[in-house]
Amino acid sequence: MKVIVLGTAAGGGLPQWNCACAQCSRARSGDPAVSPRRQDCLAISATGENWFLLNASPDLREQIAATPELAPGPGRRETPIRGALLTDAELDHTLGLTLLREGQLTVWAPPPVLSHAAVRGLLAHYHHWTWHPAETTFTLDGLTCTVFPLSGKRPRYAQTATPAPNWVVAYRITDPTTGGTLVYAPCLAHWPTPFTEFLAGATHALLDGTFHSPDEMATTTAQTDQRAMGHLPIVESLPLLPPGPTRWYYTHLNNTNPAVAHDSLARTQIEACGASVAEDGTRFDL
Ligand code: MLT
Ligand code: MN
Ligand code: ZN
Repeated sequence: MKVIVLGTAAGGGLPQWNCACAQCSRARSGDPAVSPRRQDCLAISATGENWFLLNASPDLREQIAATPELAPGPGRRETPIRGALLTDAELDHTLGLTLLREGQLTVWAPPPVLSHAAVRGLLAHYHHWTWHPAETTFTLDGLTCTVFPLSGKRPRYAQTATPAPNWVVAYRITDPTTGGTLVYAPCLAHWPTPFTEFLAGATHALLDGTFHSPDEMATTTAQTDQRAMGHLPIVESLPLLPPGPTRWYYTHLNNTNPAVAHDSLARTQIEACGASVAEDGTRFDL
């Protein structure tokens, strides 16, 4: 299985268009210690022929353009991008689908997301896309996908929709020919006890790294506890990473997260625990 990390930032990216904080300013000015980050999104493929997106970021047009594996061809209107899997209905994970409206994809998403994702209504006016519920286990071009319901966190635009435990899910994707296994969980509101078992034996896992600490937004906004925003801070998930062969990566980094800077204490602490911060453009062969 081939994996391409297309983006690693939380909603807004780094730098965020309307933010003049120190980290966004460093990223904007070309400081080599704070690289710009596109909004989080992966591409996976069993053989390198057919590709599937894990989430669809609003930066997708640039992410595709920067990735030779995803270039169109050989036919004039052929693309190797066959579909997308959504972990949730948030705009930073779904808006990118509207940028693909010239094509016709298959999308897997948990049932509440299928029913309420705003982009689905928009896309219905263009081509006939296929939408599948992501529940328990399904096969994706020879890869085995298992779904773990993580939380009932609904996007702001769907606050009145019916509560359900699978508004947000994680995916565990295994290549049966190599045994390589990827877990993708960019939105962890909390750490359900059985999630540890879901991670067992994974080769690579990309986890929610939105915030480093529970109070990092206190200096810029009235929000004083990021747990209330549905993102478990890195300092609280680091001690929960189960021992074993897994390579741990944090993704969906907010521009307030000090770990976006290569020269930060936060980055040193993460690496001292055997984990890493995911970087845009990284490729894994699992
Ligand atoms: C989140 O990750 O909590 C959301 O993407 C927030 C947002 O709407 O940008
Ligand atoms: Mn987000
Ligand atoms: Zn900023």
